[in-house]
Amino acid sequence: MSGIEHHVLEERADSRPDRNLALELVRVTEAAALAAARWVGRGDKIAADQAAVDAMRLVLDTVQMDGIVVIGEGEKDEAPMLYNGEAIGDGSSPATDIAVDPLEGTTLCARGMPNALAVIALAERGSMFDPGPCVYMEKLAGGSAIADLLDLDKPIAEILGLIAERKEIEIGDVMVVVLDRPRHADGIQAIRDAGARVRLISDGDVSAAMLAVSENSPVDLLWGVGGTPEGVISAAALKCMGGQIVGRLWPRDEEERAAAIEGGYDLDKQLTADDLIKSDDCFFSATGVTDGDVLQGVRYQGARGASTESLVMRSRSGTVRRVAARHDRTKLRAVTGARYG
Ligand code: FBP
Repeated sequence: MSGIEHHVLEERADSRPDRNLALELVRVTEAAALAAARWVGRGDKIAADQAAVDAMRLVLDTVQMDGIVVIGEGEKDEAPMLYNGEAIGDGSSPATDIAVDPLEGTTLCARGMPNALAVIALAERGSMFDPGPCVYMEKLAGGSAIADLLDLDKPIAEILGLIAERKEIEIGDVMVVVLDRPRHADGIQAIRDAGARVRLISDGDVSAAMLAVSENSPVDLLWGVGGTPEGVISAAALKCMGGQIVGRLWPRDEEERAAAIEGGYDLDKQLTADDLIKSDDCFFSATGVTDGDVLQGVRYQGARGASTESLVMRSRSGTVRRVAARHDRTKLRAVTGARYG
């Protein structure tokens, strides 16, 4: 073979699409959603979360990869499964970082409320932001048309004015989704004083971030302080869907601030989606547990059947798939030992 022919073959090999892990991850979030769904409305968020974790772990084991949980259920002692640092997969390539939220919105699920999801994100090894001791971050998220306007140093009223101008709408038509928490009282007042509107949510800011960047969304912006792990997972979703998230670590007290500084975290830095997920090849899957803004929840058909809806995405290709699946719960129970379904 001539040198040129060899070169051409190499080029072809490079441009060939490789394995899309997101298509394997959808089975993982479907399993977690099916398991959590048995607990919808039963008032027990711990049991709902545990069921989702068990099912997610079971299926994750079947994914061929050398994975490390960067964002999981917490420290090993407190979380027997999917703990931070846990190795997942059969050890074969690719080497990946994993962020899981087997049940995002535990209270939403327990109370039978909208927008509970099962979520996983995956990216190349070493590319995912490790929140360390930082539980919360300030967040702004919006669609690609307003991505450059997101700045946590600017007063929220100023940003809202810029969004209205950019979108050529009245400020009174700008809708901001905000977690309903006492810490947001001043911000909510500032948004309303500026003439904009607030959509309050009781939980679930991953779903809210996805809503904020969706086309024809009733929401223009996500604002407020939410979980740092959820911020990293949202960044993975937005890198696939488009749009931007900007976050800044928000220590709750002096002790947390000191631990963050000691750990080398920059508390002033505004972290973009590219800082939270450095790789431009990340994978994301979310399956609805309860009906929500971006996904339909698990629905049962008789005693045997169940349906799920998932969003399955990859940042490198930008492909966003909406996967509707029908499950046979009796057969699933037979193969999983009643773990889910
Ligand atoms: P859980 O699924 O762990 O219950 O978290 C839900 C959630 O609402 C997240 O979406 C959000 O980022 C975080 O909690 C906000 O934290 P807090 O409830 O402490 O304000």
